[in-house]
Amino acid sequence: MNVDKGYVEADIPKGINLKEEILKLKCERNAVIMAHYYQRSEIQDVADYIGDSLALAQLAAKTDAPVIILCGVHFMGETAKILCPDKKVIVPDLSAGCSLADSCPADTFKSYIEQNPGHTVISYVNTSAAVKALTDVVVTSSNAVQIVESFARDEKIIFGPDRNLGNYINSITGRNMKVWNGACHVHEQFSLEKILKLKDDYPGAKVLVHPECPKTIRIIADKVGSTQALLNYAVNDSANEFIVCTESGILYQMQRQCPNKTFIPAPPEDGTCACNECNFMKLITLEKLYNSLKYLAPEIMVDEQVAIKAVEPIKKMLEISQKLGLVK
Ligand code: 13P
Ligand code: SF4
Repeated sequence: MNVDKGYVEADIPKGINLKEEILKLKCERNAVIMAHYYQRSEIQDVADYIGDSLALAQLAAKTDAPVIILCGVHFMGETAKILCPDKKVIVPDLSAGCSLADSCPADTFKSYIEQNPGHTVISYVNTSAAVKALTDVVVTSSNAVQIVESFARDEKIIFGPDRNLGNYINSITGRNMKVWNGACHVHEQFSLEKILKLKDDYPGAKVLVHPECPKTIRIIADKVGSTQALLNYAVNDSANEFIVCTESGILYQMQRQCPNKTFIPAPPEDGTCACNECNFMKLITLEKLYNSLKYLAPEIMVDEQVAIKAVEPIKKMLEISQKLGLVK
């Protein structure tokens, strides 16, 4: 077995039904499969749980299964491992990174914190374990506004790494957090002009926007929220058409849960690319999932000293979310 490329390279018997074999192996290995909403549809089909970042962290903290297969990106696997150090946590392709997490190297973030003493550090979950270890509270897009508001109005706060989410929170809460200048390459690609053109074509359509999008896109939103919040809105709203400004994987669950509604992926600036797809999320395939279950690899590892520090702000997020009734 070779994992040099970040995933198990091994032959798969010809002609097998991958989905059926994955479900069999999952039982044999006593594993739980968790998937983020941006995963390929076939991965979502075999998952025990599908959720946003907050739900995946919460499920990892609660599961009894000794093996967690996290079909998502690296920081999601790290978060699960930090919460469950005794479990085997596997991400079927370890090279599934995140441009937003990469926009905040831990050493530069540390210097920034040192240059701004007396600040509470709030970090988005899309960060490395090393950045979380420098953080007071972690947030996700489904609890960020409420967690920031749980601090005193005059609390001095550093928020990293997403400038769009940070600026959104400042605008909603009237705070003046110092915001790190990071961003996600997928959410910065949407074309305002093309979305407005779509609104002309579908005058009744509601616009759903993830807060990682820039202000130019957020200001035309009917709903700004996490993947779960956007899905809930689509299910509960009376509109029949929705323009979806986030990674296109979420459209699979939207369409599944609302078969009679129409979901239109917001177009990126460059009409020739598939840039509303997260290339990292899409690295997870059925073949890699099958081999990761068969060989129980590649495992996510987090340095013990880093994990000891990083677990505190993640637990704090889960505690505050519980107190505020944001998680079950
Ligand atoms: P959610 O927590 O809203 O699912 O977002 C995760 C993410 O990576 C968005 O790009
Ligand atoms: Fe990271 Fe952006 Fe992909 Fe989300 S969509 S995992 S923020 S690169």
